[in-house]
Amino acid sequence: MDFVFTEEQLMIQKAARDFAINDCLPGVIERDELQRFPKEQIEKLADLGFMGMMVSPDYGGSGLDTVSYVLAMEEISKIDASTSVCVSVNNSLVCYGLESFGTEEQKQQYLTPLAQGKKDGELYIGAFLLSEPEAGSDATSQRTTAEDKGDYYLLNGTKNWITNGSSASVYLVIAQTDPAKGHKGINCLIVEKNWPGVTVAAKENKLGIRGSDTHSIMFNDVKVPKANRIGEDGFGFKFAMKTLAGGRIGIASQALGIASGAYELALKYSKQRKAFGKEISQHQAIQFKLADMATKIEAARLLCLKAAWEKDNGLNYDLSSSMAKVFSSEAAMWVTVEAVQIHGGYGFVKEYHVERLMRDAKITQIYEGTSEVQRIVISRSILS
Ligand code: CAA
Repeated sequence: MDFVFTEEQLMIQKAARDFAINDCLPGVIERDELQRFPKEQIEKLADLGFMGMMVSPDYGGSGLDTVSYVLAMEEISKIDASTSVCVSVNNSLVCYGLESFGTEEQKQQYLTPLAQGKKDGELYIGAFLLSEPEAGSDATSQRTTAEDKGDYYLLNGTKNWITNGSSASVYLVIAQTDPAKGHKGINCLIVEKNWPGVTVAAKENKLGIRGSDTHSIMFNDVKVPKANRIGEDGFGFKFAMKTLAGGRIGIASQALGIASGAYELALKYSKQRKAFGKEISQHQAIQFKLADMATKIEAARLLCLKAAWEKDNGLNYDLSSSMAKVFSSEAAMWVTVEAVQIHGGYGFVKEYHVERLMRDAKITQIYEGTSEVQRIVISRSILS
């Protein structure tokens, strides 16, 4: 067992930290308030090679390991979780899915620009379309249909709560082709946003990660060439599950970053603010809160890194990624509430950042599998 990061991993961590402080912090409160997508930030991340971190350089990626990805996700999320969710979806769900299961042609056409985050100098990112109005946790109940028409699929239906919904150029869409086969009749299709029949519906007005653009996407008789199906006929549900296992490492690291960002602010504030004649960090009520926050964050970090290490070493990481996600997201919720409490009245106003981090923490218990879904995955694994 080795708890020492390599020089390359430390370099990535520092680059992500510098980026977050210099490029995300200015304007983060305004972007949250106005629900403004962090386009400039994502473009810069693309230039830095953070949009296809783990993709092979053969396909425009940075060829880094998952541990580096966890370190980068933590640093960006400490300051701006609206930016980091976009990084997570593009890296973990879209690029990973295409690199692992796509054809050579799909990789050349779609993965390469997605990993670079740009095409012809313009922002080029992806989105993952699984959730539906009536299929969230119960993901096998897909109502979106991809009817087999010979050399193309005819796509119809609505997807909900899609991260990068309007900013993405490419969608990975999960849809039912043969309802009689249940989840074995589901496919994943690569769909371009500007194809006829694709409509980006209104943006959601959210509690947290308000800078990230979340939309419903509607498909009305969209013709998708057979060449845009990922994997064999009927592979779509397994594709979603395998891809989400890696995605959960990204969201767990996002939760870790939100928690550590709030903790660092609370620690600093507790050494500045005085009450009853001394700094509040000198009061045991605050000291015990800080001790519990630091311990939960360290445990979350170790779970995230263990899952990343398993992925990097070709081991099965379904269990560890679900454990990392449920623990880190619950830690993030708890830690951010305590960070607001330590800040007292100042914690309740926007310029101290912790109220935003608390709002942002909530979604990490919901997307890419709720805490309840993670417990299904964990309990099935330990009981099997
Ligand atoms: N790898 C490979 N195959 C897997 C798998 C995995 N990790 N997990 C399940 N499967 C396979 C099963 O083996 C089974 O196949 P067989 O019948 O051939 O054995 C098939 O998938 C169905 O699995 P289950 O019987 O376990 O299915 P279930 O209906 O009981 O549901 C579930 C399982 C874990 C609850 C699953 O539905 C699930 O993960 N739900 C949550 C969905 C989710 O995470 N949504 C997030 C949306 S994306 C998002 O949020 C992105 C964003 O914008 C930020």
